Amino acid sequence: MSEVKLFQDAHYLQHNQYRTSSNLDARAGLHRQFSTADVRWQPWVFDWLALTPGMRVLECGCGPGWLWRENMNRIPANCHITLTDLSPGMVAEAEAALAGSGHRFEFQQASIQALDFADGTFDVVVANHMLYHVPDLPQALAEVQRVMKENGRLVAATNGNKHMVELADLVPDALKKAVSSLRMRGQGEMLAFRLENGRAILEPYFDTVELHLYDDSLWITEVEPLLAYAFSMISPDENVPETAVTQLREAWAAKIEADGGIRISKHSGVFVAATK
Ligand SMILES: C[S@@+](CC[C@H](N)C(=O)[O-])C[C@H]1O[C@@H](n2cnc3c(N)ncnc32)[C@H](O)[C@@H]1O
Repeated sequence: MSEVKLFQDAHYLQHNQYRTSSNLDARAGLHRQFSTADVRWQPWVFDWLALTPGMRVLECGCGPGWLWRENMNRIPANCHITLTDLSPGMVAEAEAALAGSGHRFEFQQASIQALDFADGTFDVVVANHMLYHVPDLPQALAEVQRVMKENGRLVAATNGNKHMVELADLVPDALKKAVSSLRMRGQGEMLAFRLENGRAILEPYFDTVELHLYDDSLWITEVEPLLAYAFSMISPDENVPETAVTQLREAWAAKIEADGGIRISKHSGVFVAATK
């Protein structure tokens, strides 16, 4: 299966890549630990929701609920927030972390392609780093449009072509073959929904579409989180020989020792799409 197809394969996403939050946590952990941004990612995304008291919100592809866990004290009163994800494991983790928090959260396992909500239910829909996993984007966006109220907004985060492009140069030539199953290359170019094409994909469904870029880069000063990041994207039927892992670890440790760290650029942002 091609990499793009695997990235949109419901069985792989549900039962392997996102069965639990551990792969996602390895990737988010690298960003959390080594980000140079002034504002953390989830609070920055939260600002674009522009929530006011009493709003009804739907998050599609909620993962373990980090958007809400990291912004708990900023949620306006009486908001009604429904978290959904294709992966039952993710929904369970979100529910375990958020239930009993005092806010009105609901949880449901659901694909964004088939939403079990009445027309015109939500003021805001969030799709935070998830539309690139969706095989039928027209179907998903028609669903988002259907469940959204008039004057509603979709906040859709994704990456662009230049996201983490330096990863490709981190593997020494002599090791390239042995570690070829690690996805050590830019993290934007292969995405079906990315910063470069998102506006054209969203415009047929919304009256206005704005793109806001997140200003960030990584300065990585430890090897193990970078290794964990690389291994979080390996597919189930592949493996990397232990000797190659050791050599990779040594090569990256030497680079960090020599340069003080490893610089990785980022290219991420949100589309805010609204109906009138
Ligand atoms: C990269 S994670 C992002 C999680 C969370 N939004 C965050 O930013 O931390 C993508 C999430 O989308 C979910 N997902 C993938 N395809 C989906 C679909 N068709 N409908 C709903 N959720 C989906 C995955 O299970 C995963 O939890």
